[in-house]
Amino acid sequence: MRRPLVAGNWKMNTISAEALQLAREVAAGAAAAAANADLLVCPPAPWLVSVRETLGGSNVLLGAQDACYEKSGAFTGEISVAMLADAGCSHVILGHSERRHIMGETNETVCRKVKAVLEGGLVPILCVGEQLEEREAGQTETVLDDQMAGSLTGFTAEDLSSLVIAYEPVWAIGTGKTASPEQAQAVHAHLRKWLAGQYTQELADQLRILYGGSVKPDNAAELLGQPDIDGALVGGASLKADSFLAIAAAAPAAG
Ligand code: 13P
Repeated sequence: MRRPLVAGNWKMNTISAEALQLAREVAAGAAAAAANADLLVCPPAPWLVSVRETLGGSNVLLGAQDACYEKSGAFTGEISVAMLADAGCSHVILGHSERRHIMGETNETVCRKVKAVLEGGLVPILCVGEQLEEREAGQTETVLDDQMAGSLTGFTAEDLSSLVIAYEPVWAIGTGKTASPEQAQAVHAHLRKWLAGQYTQELADQLRILYGGSVKPDNAAELLGQPDIDGALVGGASLKADSFLAIAAAAPAAG
C-alpha cells in the first residue's frame, strides 16, 4: 500500500538560526507524530547541509525545492542534482507553480529536470495544478493532462517507479482557500487514471499523489483520508513544527 508522505516546502523563508530551530523541533517530534507517514522537509538551499546535520539520526528526510537540469559547468546560480545528493537530499520538488508562473518554467524545462533528478538517483516531486480561471472555465483536467504529459515526456513506467506527484491548485496556494476533500479527491483520481492510461495500472496504483494548497492541521485529516490522496505538500503550515507535525499525525494508517 502507499505510505503517506508529508512534505514541508519552506519556500524562501527562514534565516539559518530559524531553519535549524525548526529542523530541531521537527526531528524531536517526528517519531511520535509520524507513525503513519514519511516526513520530508525542503529548506532553502543554503541551509541544506546544516539542516541535514540537525536532523541527525531522525527519520526525517531532506529535499530541495528545485534543481538544474544540467550536470555541471558554467550555469551561474544553478544547483546540480549531484550537489543536492551530496548535501543529503533524497527528494527534489520540481515544477512548483511558483517556478512555473513566477519564474516562467515551461513543461519542457520541468521535464528535463525530472530526467536529471531521476538520473541522479533522487526522487522528483512533480507539481501540477490549474489556475482559478482555468478551473472556472472547466479546463482543470485538460490543463493537468497537459502538464503531466509535457513534464513526463520520454519516460517508461519503470523510469517513473519512484516518482511522487503533487497536485497543487494554484488558487489554493497561500490563499487559505483549500480545495474541498471532494474536489481534491476527484483530481487525484483523475491523475491516477491518467497514469494508468499512459503507463500501467501497476504504476498508477503505486505512485504517491500528494495534495498541496493551504493544508492546515484542521483540514488535514479530511484531505489525507481521501482514498487517492497519499500525503501533503505543505507550505505556510510547515514553518511551525507543531502545525507541520499535527498535519503528519493526521495521516491515516495505510491499508
Ligand atoms: P501553502 O500551504 O502555504 O498554501 O503552500 C502550498 C505549497 O505551495 C506547497 O508547495
